[in-house]
Amino acid sequence: MIQEGVCVYPGSFDPVTNGHLDLIERATQVFPRVIVAVLNNPGKQGFFPVEERVRLLAKACAHLPKVEIDSFQGLLVDYMKKVNAGIVIRGLRAVTDFESEFLMAQVNHQISPEIETLFMMTSPQFAYISSSVVREIGGFGGEIASFVPGSILEDISTALKKAR
Ligand code: COA
Repeated sequence: MIQEGVCVYPGSFDPVTNGHLDLIERATQVFPRVIVAVLNNPGKQGFFPVEERVRLLAKACAHLPKVEIDSFQGLLVDYMKKVNAGIVIRGLRAVTDFESEFLMAQVNHQISPEIETLFMMTSPQFAYISSSVVREIGGFGGEIASFVPGSILEDISTALKKAR
């Protein structure tokens, strides 16, 4: 049975950015329980291993008692059923996000009509941030302090520098 007040914020989080954290913090003001779920996609190798993305998220969200970090494989709707959640949270940064998000929400609703997707607009100061921007700038030794949470800046910078 779907539990009221539980939302899931799914994504790759490779790595988590200030834009993601902004959305997570704002979601905790609306929902009593927020599950941040990292997609474990065996078909797409990311930069950070999934366990590391989970660890970084947990560190960045340590000040948020309503937040739990998890990972999942397969379909999001199946994961939603597993954790008894009915609401998916997604962020919209710009109109360019709209088309893919619209499609994803429609597909999920079609295969599981009880699942609702709610969108939150990304705060304007984070609209240009993405995980690949962080990886690219940090990978070339650039300054990423304004892109990622301070608590995990060192972890991310060190990992990106090592890979150079
Ligand atoms: N702030 C900053 N960056 C943001 C952001 C925000 N608020 N929202 C999204 N982004 C960025 C991410 O950093 C990522 O950047 P990158 O491409 O540079 O790495 C990019 O936007 C994509 O975001 P993400 O949330 O990771 O989306 P995704 O498309 O990789 O994954 C899932 C979306 C996990 C929800 C989706 O793929 C999924 O549910 N998969 C499971 C399979 C399934 O159920 N499929 C059927 C549905 S169609």
